[in-house]
Amino acid sequence: MKIVVLAGGTSTERDVSLSSGAMIYRALKNRGHKAILLDVYLGYECKETHGEDAERIFDSERDWAGELGTISEQNPDIEQVKAMRPDGHKNFFGPNVIRLCQAADAVFMALHGENGENGKIQACFDLMGITYTGTDFVSSALAMDKGISKELFVCHGIPTPSYIRFQKGKEQKETVSFPCIVKGCCGGSSVGVGIARTKEEYESALTEAFQYDDEVIVEQYIDGREFSVGVLEGKALPVIEIAPLEGFYDYKNKYQPGSTVETCPAQIPDEKTKELQGYAEQAFSALRLKNYARMDFMMSREGRIFCLEANTLPGMTPTSLLPQEAAALGMNFEELCERILAASVK
Ligand code: DAL
Ligand code: MG
Repeated sequence: MKIVVLAGGTSTERDVSLSSGAMIYRALKNRGHKAILLDVYLGYECKETHGEDAERIFDSERDWAGELGTISEQNPDIEQVKAMRPDGHKNFFGPNVIRLCQAADAVFMALHGENGENGKIQACFDLMGITYTGTDFVSSALAMDKGISKELFVCHGIPTPSYIRFQKGKEQKETVSFPCIVKGCCGGSSVGVGIARTKEEYESALTEAFQYDDEVIVEQYIDGREFSVGVLEGKALPVIEIAPLEGFYDYKNKYQPGSTVETCPAQIPDEKTKELQGYAEQAFSALRLKNYARMDFMMSREGRIFCLEANTLPGMTPTSLLPQEAAALGMNFEELCERILAASVK
């Protein structure tokens, strides 16, 4: 198949997306697909992503991909990336992106965060008849908003930590009890997430979270163990336990190899495994998710399970959780990508 692996963008998870994209791109090439890895915002192949291979890739794909530019700067940051678009950013899609996506048999979504995971691109692709991996625009939007997700979890009997939400600049009426977690309503990869145990910590966590989002949620802190459960085509994968060596599962502990101990299948009683998998499947269905997703959980010291959120385009980086869960079933990374793709184009 001809596949565009769509990555990059301008969200706070740009680098994570490029890492997921590079992994997916290589897996699809190894499976014999014609693939290109495309930065959605720049319309370029990123040289930093696969180095010296870039020119060779363009040559081999030229029959359908045509001429594409490359970025010679190493790891441009988001501001540099935005400055590379000379058109005032009126159209989020970089040059040639839509043309290439329409020419492909499918787009493999390797985007994370804003404008990629929030349903806007999915809605646009639906209108254009472009086939893509992952869930549709409505479910993407529902899952992207942590507050709305939690409301739906509650409606469907899925336990979730209590929370309040409020907007930047609006007076906060509810009182907050400590410890609590402060996070952007629509963030990802723990960017801007903080734990607050005192009023001072709370004030500084709010300032940090509002740097990335105009709306925050303040969630009850659950002291206990952290788990994650992927769902593929409605069926839960094995449970993975996540135990950072220091602190909580923040950006560094998510992506720096060796900083977190991940155990899959998690060493917990069978009934807890079934409970977590059951809630993951229920959350998948409550948010009307399709294709695949990954749900994150906490288990309190008393053994109570709480669903934190759903990730509709979960990380596919070398340290990411979903590929490890698939591997525990004997499904390697290439097979996982193939399964996701096959379910999307059927
Ligand atoms: N938001 C990141 C990519 C994840 O959930 O894996
Ligand atoms: Mg997330």
